[in-house]
Amino acid sequence: MATPSSFSITTPIFYVNDVPHIGHAYTQVAADVLARWHRQSGDDTWFLTGTDEHGQKILRTATANGVTPKEWADQLVKSAWLPLLETIDISNDDFIRTTEPRHEENVQKFLQKLYDDGHVYDGEFEALYCVGCEEFKPKSEIVDGTGAFEGEKVCIIHSKPLELLQEKNYFFRMSAFQDRLLALYEERPDFVQPPSARNEVIAFVQQGLDDLSISRSSFDWGIPIPWDSSHVTYVWFDALLNYITAAGYGSDEAKFDERWPATHVVGKDILRFHAVIWPAMLMAAGIEVPKQVFAHGWLLVGGEKMSKSKLTGIAPNEITDVFGSDAFRYYFSRAVSFGHDGSFSWEDLASRYQAELANGFGNLASRVLAMNVKYFDGVVPAAAEETEADAAIRELVARAAVAADEQMERLAVHEALASIWEIVDALNGYITDQEPWVLAKSEETRARLGTVLATATEGLRALAVLLSPVLTEATQKLWVALGADVALGELRAQNLREAGAWGLLPAGTKLGQLDALFPRIETAE
Ligand code: ME8
Ligand code: MG
Repeated sequence: MATPSSFSITTPIFYVNDVPHIGHAYTQVAADVLARWHRQSGDDTWFLTGTDEHGQKILRTATANGVTPKEWADQLVKSAWLPLLETIDISNDDFIRTTEPRHEENVQKFLQKLYDDGHVYDGEFEALYCVGCEEFKPKSEIVDGTGAFEGEKVCIIHSKPLELLQEKNYFFRMSAFQDRLLALYEERPDFVQPPSARNEVIAFVQQGLDDLSISRSSFDWGIPIPWDSSHVTYVWFDALLNYITAAGYGSDEAKFDERWPATHVVGKDILRFHAVIWPAMLMAAGIEVPKQVFAHGWLLVGGEKMSKSKLTGIAPNEITDVFGSDAFRYYFSRAVSFGHDGSFSWEDLASRYQAELANGFGNLASRVLAMNVKYFDGVVPAAAEETEADAAIRELVARAAVAADEQMERLAVHEALASIWEIVDALNGYITDQEPWVLAKSEETRARLGTVLATATEGLRALAVLLSPVLTEATQKLWVALGADVALGELRAQNLREAGAWGLLPAGTKLGQLDALFPRIETAE
């Protein structure tokens, strides 16, 4: 079993029927910030993301484009999904594709075990299927179509007609796990979070669980059922298993023990798959359930869930090309309360960039470094006697670091950033109040000037470390400009759980040059 100081985190594996948009990037950034936070806190961290490549949705897209589904997937992974990781600076440790042998072979192993142990049976089946969701829809999500789909039954999410599927399928006896699932939610209130997601899942399972159809025989783009090759595995059953096949299930038990169980970060659209079907599958196989399933909200554009199928999709590089990856990472970590829906708008992004990143943090860094250069030849001065104002900064840094760690621990990424940002605001206020430019006018206040700049510079040292999981580029530049790479070693090696300590950057450290961390953006009006 994973040790207490190990931390495994995953994103959903994304469908390769289309290119990524900011909704996908949002999930990846949130998981990345958490992974970086834990990794830099000394936890044995493993961060997994990847792509979901089987099923009808991808088969149809590929066919419509005149290529095989594998060719289509290869092309999208190479041209869009892997480059996205660079675009938004994702530090994943692994990337799984469901068409890889390491996945396919172990999905078959898992299926065979369930079959051998009596959790699977065959039966006739007829129900309405949504290819957009890759799911047989429950009654509550089937509505009457309008407009072009008048008279047809459509999916409430995709507003597209459902298809009546009628075939012989293999079924997983999921209904047998209803009581054990309810007991799990009860015994481990953190298992599904936030509370709204937990309540939804409990209410769903309390209504009663059906068995789950886990195979298809009307098309062949999927993993063959090991005991009946005329069927392929249902795409969701295949996809969910990525979390354990990538962790080493079936291939490397020692690795699997270290990495499993993991925290799953998913959008609330796929909560039920992760919080109901997935733990039931694991229970059937005698494997530990995940550590946690955290469902975040939707990014809304113009009040609606942003999606490619509704043509409101925004490509991540539309944002990073203008504002940079740090601003992307910051904006979505800070402006959206993690676990709730959040509206994206260019105006809000631009105004936060200017107010918080450029004027708040960037300016603070430039001013403090420039004053060190101007008054102390670019060498960190020694602090003399501490006043109340200096002590307040020191104490705030210590407090904010502890608070941020506790908030990251419960995946409240936006709260952790708000805690850290208190240091930015306090330091800006401190400089305004202490007026180092006035202290610089007299030799008598030289010692005080040194203390003020030493305090502000040490504050920047703490900020560089605390913000490094989010502002990966700016903090690195700041770290080098602070001379901290020479004095203290690499930024990535600074333990986040010690970032709130004081007096780490020694007096006498030689400072370097710092260009504007967040340059003014010329927006075309
Ligand atoms: O569902 N706001 O893949 P998918 C926030 N392959 N997040 C969003 C979003 C939005 N508007 N749009 C998408 C699948 N997302 C399956 C998953 S996992 C074993 C299989 C994010 O490509 C969010 O994380 O449709 C959501 O859950 C995911 O993309 C769906 O990606
Ligand atoms: Mg989707």
